[in-house]
Amino acid sequence: MTQASTQPPLLEVNGLSLEFRTRSGVVHALEGINLRIQRGEIVGLVGESGSGKSVLSYAMLGISDAAARVTSGSAVFGGLDLIKADEPTLANIRGREISMIFQSPRTALNPIRPVGRQIEDVLRRHAAGDVHQRGPDLGQNLRQRAVQALREVAISDPERRVKAYPFEMSGGMCQRVMIALALACRPALLIADEPTTGLDVTTQAAVMDLITDLARQRQMAALFITHDLALAADYCDRLVVMHAGHVVESGPASELFSRPRHPYTARLLSSTPGPGTTLEDLKPVPGNLPDLRRAELPACRFAERCEQADDRCRREVAPVVVQGTHAVACWHPLHAATPSEESAV
Ligand SMILES: Nc1ncnc2c1ncn2[C@@H]1O[C@H](COP(=O)(O)OP(=O)(O)O)[C@@H](O)[C@H]1O
Ligand SMILES: [Mg+2]
Repeated sequence: MTQASTQPPLLEVNGLSLEFRTRSGVVHALEGINLRIQRGEIVGLVGESGSGKSVLSYAMLGISDAAARVTSGSAVFGGLDLIKADEPTLANIRGREISMIFQSPRTALNPIRPVGRQIEDVLRRHAAGDVHQRGPDLGQNLRQRAVQALREVAISDPERRVKAYPFEMSGGMCQRVMIALALACRPALLIADEPTTGLDVTTQAAVMDLITDLARQRQMAALFITHDLALAADYCDRLVVMHAGHVVESGPASELFSRPRHPYTARLLSSTPGPGTTLEDLKPVPGNLPDLRRAELPACRFAERCEQADDRCRREVAPVVVQGTHAVACWHPLHAATPSEESAV
C-alpha cells in the first residue's frame, strides 16, 4: 500500500461535478468529487442509496444519461481524461482496460445466447485488431478461452456450461458468468456496482471472495460499490464514503470502520448490521438525503441530518482534514486529532 501510493494513481478523479437537467429542475448529483485508485488497490465506494455512487462510475465510463452534464473536473486513467475522451476511445477502454459488473446479472446477460458465446463475443470484439489471434484457429481458440474464463470463476464442468443459457443457471452462477465476462480481457480496473445485492448471504460471500481473490492474483484494481459499509470493510483496502453527491470521508478500511471521523460515516456504521448486533442496536441514519434539485443546498449536505451541525456547516464548505491517509471534510470531525497532526489541503 505505502509502496503503491508513491506511484501515479491508476485512476484520479479531480473536482468532478455533474448535473442532470430534468423537467422538474437541475439535479446537482455530483459536486467536486475527488477519488484516487492505485494499481491493484481494492476500494469500496459506500453510501446510502441515492448518494451518487452509480452516477459517478457511469460518468467515468462515458455512459451517462443524455440529461447528464459534467460541469467541471476530470477523471484521468492511464494519462487520458475519460471525461473528454470521444466515444470510440471510450468504447475501446470499456471491457478491455476498465470493466464493469452490475447488480442483477440475469438481466445484464443476453437471455437467448449461450454464456460461452457471450464471453467469446467480448474476446472477439477486443481481439479484432490483433492479427496474431486471427486465422482459421480463431474460433477454436476463443472457445478454449471461454472455457478457461468459466474455470477461473470456479464454475464446475466448464466444457458443458459454456453451452448453457442464463435461464439454466442460478443467480449466483449468473453473477460468476458476469465476472468471467468482465475479466475476460484482463482489465486493469474492475468497477463492481452492488454486485451481490439480491444474492443470499452465502452466495454473496462466495462472489466477494471470488472478485477479491482474482483482483489480488492479477494485480487488478477494483472499485466495489455498495450501500453495505460492513461488507465493504471486510473486503476492501480503503473506503470512500459518499453522501448526497459529496465525498465526505476516505481512508484505510479498518481505520474508518473502527474510528469514523465524519458524523455521517458514524451514523452509517450504526445502521449496518455486524456480527452480534441485534435489531435494537441498529439505528437508521436520521432524516433523508436532501432534494438535490434545490438551488440553495447547504454547504455540508449532511447538515440537516447532523446533531453536530451549526450555522457554519450550512454556510461554508469544510476544508478536508488529512491525518496520514485518512481524510475527512467536516467542521466537527469525531475522534478529533490534536492540532499538530492536522493539515488542511
Ligand atoms: N437520469 C437521471 N436523471 C435525473 N436524476 C438522476 C438520474 N440518474 C440518477 N439521478 C439522481 O442522481 C442521484 C444519485 O443517484 P445514483 O448514483 O443512482 O445513487 P446510488 O448509486 O448511490 O444509489 C439521485 O438523486 C438520483 O435520483
Ligand atoms: Mg447505484
